[in-house]
Amino acid sequence: MMKTLVIFAHPNSDSFNGAIRYVVENQLKENGVEYIVKDLYAMNFNGILTVNDLMQMRKGTVADDIALEQNDVRWAENLIFIFPIWWIAPPAIVKGWIDRVLSHGFAYEHQEDGTIKGLLGDKRALIITTSGANQEKMQNEGTLEAIETMLIKGIFNFSGISDVTYENLFQVTSTTDEKRQEMLQQVASLVSRL
Ligand SMILES: Cc1cc2nc3c(=O)[nH]c(=O)nc-3n(C[C@H](O)[C@H](O)[C@H](O)COP(=O)(O)O)c2cc1C
Repeated sequence: MMKTLVIFAHPNSDSFNGAIRYVVENQLKENGVEYIVKDLYAMNFNGILTVNDLMQMRKGTVADDIALEQNDVRWAENLIFIFPIWWIAPPAIVKGWIDRVLSHGFAYEHQEDGTIKGLLGDKRALIITTSGANQEKMQNEGTLEAIETMLIKGIFNFSGISDVTYENLFQVTSTTDEKRQEMLQQVASLVSRL
């Protein structure tokens, strides 16, 4: 039984991302997995890293709202992220969650030889994103690679998570309902294999 933390970020629960969340939760229930969902907009999560956060990071402590988030990350064996691609990047609220929750001393630490060690190596991550652009365009422009580099290498591998599955669902705004249903099937099968 893999304890799973779902980080969901979309301001509208009736969106396609909302449908992905629904499918993910159903599949986790079917798998009999213990899970927690963090709906960052519904929580009104404060993603703005402050000078106080920076001072605390230096001391190895965190603000109370972040301590709660870190407890849930500590508890989880699987992390599932669901969010749309906005400006070739995660929505600001997700970026803010990363800035504040994956803090120095919690997600990574500096070693004496000057290198950085990731601290979340006991976890796996599944990241599901959606884009308006199609696969060909994102591959040709290099934007898919940029997103993959940022998410997989820059954030998850850096934090010690080497087992990362990243799936972007392309062209979700302009494709057919049939294709969208296929994508939701694909999401269910990704989660069932966790
Ligand atoms: C502020 C904003 C920025 C966006 N930037 C991009 C982008 O850089 N690349 C892209 O392919 N789609 C972009 N889109 C389209 C979204 O990815 C698309 O609307 C979303 O994935 C659809 O899912 P939803 O129906 O759940 O919102 C953007 C949309 C918004 C609102």
